[in-house]
Amino acid sequence: SKGGFDHFMIKEINEQPNGIKETLNRRLDENGDIKLDDIKLTKAELDNINKVYIVACGTAYYAGLVGKHAIEKFAKIPVETDIASEFRYRDAFVDENTLLIVVSQSGETADTLAALKEAKSKGARILAITNVVGSSVSREADDVFYTWAGPEIAVASTKAYTTQLVSLYMIALDFAIKKGTITKEQYKTMISKLGETSDKVQEIIDNSDDIEKIAEEIKDSKDAFYLGRGLDYCLAMEGALKLKEISYIHAEAFPAGELKHGPIALIEEGTPVISIATQDVLFEKMVSNMKEVKARGAYVIALAKEGNKEVEKAADRVIYIPEVDDVLSSILTVVPLQILSYHVATKRGCDVDKPRNLAKSVTVE
Ligand code: F6R
Repeated sequence: SKGGFDHFMIKEINEQPNGIKETLNRRLDENGDIKLDDIKLTKAELDNINKVYIVACGTAYYAGLVGKHAIEKFAKIPVETDIASEFRYRDAFVDENTLLIVVSQSGETADTLAALKEAKSKGARILAITNVVGSSVSREADDVFYTWAGPEIAVASTKAYTTQLVSLYMIALDFAIKKGTITKEQYKTMISKLGETSDKVQEIIDNSDDIEKIAEEIKDSKDAFYLGRGLDYCLAMEGALKLKEISYIHAEAFPAGELKHGPIALIEEGTPVISIATQDVLFEKMVSNMKEVKARGAYVIALAKEGNKEVEKAADRVIYIPEVDDVLSSILTVVPLQILSYHVATKRGCDVDKPRNLAKSVTVE
């Protein structure tokens, strides 16, 4: 049942604070340290891993891109994130020192499962992040990390994505402390900051009236573009997918630094450009990019951290998210993007829970 909500999608958006909490708290021991019971990878085995692939499709792939940032930053292991249907056919460099992390809400996606089997046959260690206990992916993997999102009904993934992010951050921190690439103090601080994201997501949901107003303003657009740099580019891709799949507006993400290499030619008077600027070191660069597209007529909707008011000079509308550590911002940033897509789609009269041409689980190639 939709529990009083109009659609499963908005219900599931609202379930995210709890999903984040469950995914994290179920794996903290009495000292507040991460305890991954289902991951049997020993410290010695971990030390032998010299390469990580994260392989998935769609939204799970976009979560995997964030995972790359987290694992490289904390655990200092090179990570490549790949789309399962590409990975399985490209003869990737996989051996016994490779860890393959597959991310799949359903655990039944055909390409993801095939990529897993392909890497397994080459000797890779397989770690699955999935939401479904006993799914095909969970049965084939050596180690399993269950996201505690609860059943996801809407075709567009929301709470599965945020819990996948939490899972990937936890795995990154666990690997890092085992490998000694972060201090105990940094580890403790990050776990506590991860714990705070759930209330901050709730705060975003509780104050989302302005997002609905923005949705009204852009709902008749033909195209919408999403810009970001670094972690924010990963979120731009997820935001664009969320909009296109349920509203059928052509939505595309670009790394903001690529604008001048082609995409800026697409900007017309009134084109919505959702510009994500949550990363401190990249903030000024993003503000410049917003000014560039605005000068060509774009309707700039900025997404920034509270207090970064300078963004208002370069944007027509600003969505603020609560203060958050840059590396964890993804968990917060995605929420306004989901809510925006939801309102645009409902205002256009689309069937948000069951978009045309799409199935919840893609079990054929
Ligand atoms: C988009 C969406 C899809 C899935 C993709 C992978 O909102 O839901 O892109 O993320 O089909 O599905 P799973 O995670 O079940 O492997």
